Amino acid sequence: MEKKNIDWGNLSFQYTRTDYRFVAHYKDGKWDDGEIITDSDVVLSECACVFQYAQTCFEGLKAYTTEDGRIVCFRPDLNAERMRDTCIRLHMPPFPEDKFVEAVKAVVKANAAWVPPFGSGATLYIRPFLMGTNPVIGVQPATEYEFRILVTPVGPYFKGGVKPISIRVSDYDRAAPQGTGHIKAGLNYAMSLYNIMDAHACGYDENMYLDPKTRTTVEETGGANFIFITKDGKLVTPKSESILPSITRRSLMVVAEKYLNMPVEHRPVLLSELEDFAECGLCGTAAVISPVGKVNDHGKEIAFPSGMNDMGPYTKKLYETLTGIQMGRIEAPEGWIVEIC
Ligand SMILES: Cc1ncc(COP(=O)(O)O)c(C=O)c1O
Repeated sequence: MEKKNIDWGNLSFQYTRTDYRFVAHYKDGKWDDGEIITDSDVVLSECACVFQYAQTCFEGLKAYTTEDGRIVCFRPDLNAERMRDTCIRLHMPPFPEDKFVEAVKAVVKANAAWVPPFGSGATLYIRPFLMGTNPVIGVQPATEYEFRILVTPVGPYFKGGVKPISIRVSDYDRAAPQGTGHIKAGLNYAMSLYNIMDAHACGYDENMYLDPKTRTTVEETGGANFIFITKDGKLVTPKSESILPSITRRSLMVVAEKYLNMPVEHRPVLLSELEDFAECGLCGTAAVISPVGKVNDHGKEIAFPSGMNDMGPYTKKLYETLTGIQMGRIEAPEGWIVEIC
């Protein structure tokens, strides 16, 4: 199959309209089978629940080209499961999990010409989303829903690829409901937009959110979980009910333990502990693993010495093993890699 004529190496993390998307509808208490379509526009009533009460949620995963030319995706069943949890929390009917995985496969296969080639540094980002579509004016959930999956080829999330990024400790909390836990991907990202633009204007790449109750423990950033490495080579990741349960982070915990023999601690992490860590990184589907060079806590700068110019040695091993598994260079644990074509 002929690939699209794209400068894959210079893609950034932005939307490109591709040829096909998946769409399914929920009406009279049930989902239809859905289909692959070409029309990228969504036309809805002005009073659709998604516009009035933001009844919508999304997921994010990627498809990769392996060294031997197969197109695969990484643990889509976990995205299906997390979207189900989000839907339940937002009173939306989840799209059945097995059909979710089949739909991901179908839409990636249809757009195979848009999947960046192996070694290009780019990947195909897959964005499933679900919304309440019928008109409501009193506060209530919709009775009709649309589930869609769009795909778009993307480059690195942070400008400069694997150059260490800088973060500030945020004075803001995100959406209040996030603090109530269990919102998962359904947290309202619009509540973080002012803060991310402000961080950029102040010269930072991202915000570090603290737990809204005590403001003493580390939560996550706007679009990724944290990982830390202790001086003696342990992986530590923050445990909190109010952060997104990152699939990348959960996978890295397995990679560290089973592939790299690193001890793993998943526990609350105090802001005051940061200066004791040797390495810090952000992890997520979009961020992959992005090394953090420094964190600024209201003027006090915490630098991670081994991450100032490049990735620290443990972060690098984690990065290479994870991406090796995703690109088919390293054997994956059972069920992690789903072959598409
Ligand atoms: C707020 C937030 N945290 C963490 C993550 C990482 O999750 P995952 O590894 O499942 O992509 C994301 C999404 O990429 C996110 O938006």
